[in-house]
Amino acid sequence: MNDLEPMVQDAEAEFAAAVAPAELEDAKARFLGKAGRITGELKALAALSTDAKKSRGAQINAAKQRIEAALASRRAALANARLESELAAQAFDVSLPGRRRFEGSIHPVSRALERIETIFASMGFEVADGPEIETDWYSFTALNNPENHPARSMQDTFYVDVRDAEGRWLNLRPHTSPMQIRYAQAHARKHVGASPMPDVRVIVPGRTYRVDSDATHSPMFHQVEGLWLGENVSFRDLKAMYLDFMQAFFETTELQLRFRPSYFPFTEPSAEIDVRFEHGPLAGRWLEVSGSGQVHPQVVRNMGLDPERQIGFAFGSGIDRLAMLRYGIDDLRLFFDNDLRFLAQFA
Ligand code: PHE
Repeated sequence: MNDLEPMVQDAEAEFAAAVAPAELEDAKARFLGKAGRITGELKALAALSTDAKKSRGAQINAAKQRIEAALASRRAALANARLESELAAQAFDVSLPGRRRFEGSIHPVSRALERIETIFASMGFEVADGPEIETDWYSFTALNNPENHPARSMQDTFYVDVRDAEGRWLNLRPHTSPMQIRYAQAHARKHVGASPMPDVRVIVPGRTYRVDSDATHSPMFHQVEGLWLGENVSFRDLKAMYLDFMQAFFETTELQLRFRPSYFPFTEPSAEIDVRFEHGPLAGRWLEVSGSGQVHPQVVRNMGLDPERQIGFAFGSGIDRLAMLRYGIDDLRLFFDNDLRFLAQFA
């Protein structure tokens, strides 16, 4: 102990009180700087005798070392505290559950559509796509459904406020059947002069529109058109092919088909196709799934083909209807409400 002890304690106290690095540097200057207290003591040595210088010098040095040690430890403490607070600010809790990425799912109608495409592709059908805004000729006239014919009123059609080259209103196609014509025309052009001409074998899934809205009808709905024309294609092929399709689509052979006579201007004879399941909630009831028929000779002519050589069948099935049967849904509108509680069930 000597008279320098209070100064050492002052230094330790001031260093401890400094919380910011700048405060600590100021405190350091008060003891170790040019005008600091240690420096003052060293200057005072000059007035002492050689012996006294020696012992006083040693005391001052010891005090200086303690002050420097106190400074170094406070510096380290401040740096450490700073690091701690930076780490705390960046901390994350590794035990927290991860943030879930939202996973969508395929819409049941799209799912049905994909199944339909896969099945028909495996049976050798092309898959084509066509315009949803159609001309009067493709939607009606080419399909043997002339203007003012009562069969036109089978479909309550939406019209678009634009006219075609013949001055007729364009329409939102009320069925996918216009694509029978478009596809077969392109086929005829592509294979002009070919003998024999390759078969036309295509399905055309897509959106269709009618002025209709209730639990089983929506103004926008989906159909898949099928067309198979060749030199030797008959109604029997339609029956066999459609049965294969239905068995693949519903993944069961325990169903029956019924071809019920009907009328469409573009097929003759025409039939509705009904299905009846042997098991499940719908067992025993006949359920309509499709229109069909042998393509009318006038329609074959409108395709640019020769009805004496090209014969075959067409069908137009309701995709929404097939999806409803497959997934046990009784209200078509659920498909288009886009309620996640409904859609998430198909994830
Ligand atoms: N286009 C008809 C409809 O929408 C269905 C159909 C297609 C019928 C092809 C016969 C042949 O109702």
